[in-house]
Amino acid sequence: MYDKALKQIKKVIGDFVPEYLIILGSGLGGLAEKVENPIAIKYGEIDGFMTSTAPSHAGRLIFGTLNGKNVVCMQGRLHLYEGYDRKQVVFPLRVLRKLGASKIIVTNAAGGINPDFVPGDIMIINDHINFTGTNPLIGANDSEFGVRFPDMTMAYSKALRERARVTAAKLGLELKEGVYIGCTGPSYETPAEIRAFRILGADAVGMSTVAEVIAARHCGYEILGFSLITNMAAGMKNVELSEEEVIEVGKQKGEALSKLVTELLI
Ligand code: HPA
Repeated sequence: MYDKALKQIKKVIGDFVPEYLIILGSGLGGLAEKVENPIAIKYGEIDGFMTSTAPSHAGRLIFGTLNGKNVVCMQGRLHLYEGYDRKQVVFPLRVLRKLGASKIIVTNAAGGINPDFVPGDIMIINDHINFTGTNPLIGANDSEFGVRFPDMTMAYSKALRERARVTAAKLGLELKEGVYIGCTGPSYETPAEIRAFRILGADAVGMSTVAEVIAARHCGYEILGFSLITNMAAGMKNVELSEEEVIEVGKQKGEALSKLVTELLI
């Protein structure tokens, strides 16, 4: 399966090798528009790639250069809540690792649990809690990608986090840092769950990223993750959560995160 997908991609991009894979979360797809000399491939044109059904997720790969670096953007990711199984969610990043990508930047929209956060904040993910009830590596280990029991102590690269901090300081952009807790969704969390997550040590909550990071770590990517805090999590404010708010803040602040990601590519 992997080789077939790889062949189909190579047929379109030739011998182009991306160094960075950038996964664009809800409302953050705009970065893909900045890619120079872009070559786009729709997920539907690659065997094994599921189509992206989430709102504002275009569902295509964009190959090209950003800040002089060879990149591939996943404009639209796959989520467990779409009904895809854990292997399907991480299939694209594994294929792109085989293609030669060695660093991955994952972005997502998330609800703020840390009371010091406000909507619009950008958080560097320094660790995660897998609350999805599954793991993309369940099943026979594919030793072509990695070991049976991959270490997660250093999943989020210290060096890349430091580079993100330095770049943000240069841009005059304030960054938060914290722990992301991943749930399956699609319902937002209850206030009781959010209180529990705060006690567990989470700073932000979302419906993606953890499966990708686990599989990415397994197959040897260097990993950097950002959460755009689009709303305060359930019960933190006396309001209900809405998809519109998430998309709107993503649009407003997505530009700043896009700039940060672009500038830190060195
Ligand atoms: N919860 C889960 N996922 C999210 C949220 C949230 O509050 N905001 C954006 N994605």
